[in-house]
Amino acid sequence: MPFLTIGHRGVMGVEPENTLRSFVRADREGMDAIELDLHLSKDGALVVMHDADVGRTTDGEGPIADLTLDELRGLDAGSGERVPVFEEVLEAVRAPIQAEIKDAAAARALAEVLRRRDATGRVEVISFHDAALAEIAKLLPGVRTGLVAQYYGLDVVDRAKAVGAGLLVLDITRLTLELVGLAHAAGLKVIGWVVNTPEHLKLARGLGLDGGTTDFPEIKNAARYTA
Ligand code: G3P
Ligand code: CA
Repeated sequence: MPFLTIGHRGVMGVEPENTLRSFVRADREGMDAIELDLHLSKDGALVVMHDADVGRTTDGEGPIADLTLDELRGLDAGSGERVPVFEEVLEAVRAPIQAEIKDAAAARALAEVLRRRDATGRVEVISFHDAALAEIAKLLPGVRTGLVAQYYGLDVVDRAKAVGAGLLVLDITRLTLELVGLAHAAGLKVIGWVVNTPEHLKLARGLGLDGGTTDFPEIKNAARYTA
């Protein structure tokens, strides 16, 4: 089975995270899929950013939920890049997208865009929030979803099945062969994050993972030559 290499917030190790520049670079570098994070602006726009507050990644301050899209557009998200809206990313790249719902309130807006753009084939929805995955599955029957977890036990497999997810995206430093075996037996794919070093790549292959989420484009090439 091919090992999927997913670009984390684009390729955040070499470009400003969650910007069009980062996504286009990830696409050009041949990543198998591109991961991004979603929030809602004050006026309901589906914006791409990791934190709930703009302070760390832009020259602004305050919660995204208190800023309008116009205000967010005025910020510098790194190297002069603007905060993108989700639809811009859909237009800018050809690779499949893993869209992570950070703010559970974004599930409805995401479902609306995916339906209107007929984009469920190329977008997989992931989240730490079980309820957000259940909601989007209800709004968009057939959408592919994945449960993300950093701290977890074997019960994460049942949690994923309970919301109809087909994928687990798990912190690689806590993964075990037992969990991967259980997940595979339950029909779930398992992606490890983050896979940023040759050691983590070796671990990912040793654990029999289906792929890894990485900050660096080189991992894509390295993954081709590890089995
Ligand atoms: O792909 C999963 C990963 O993106 C979750 O962590 O903090 O980058 O959203 P974070
Ligand atoms: Ca993410």
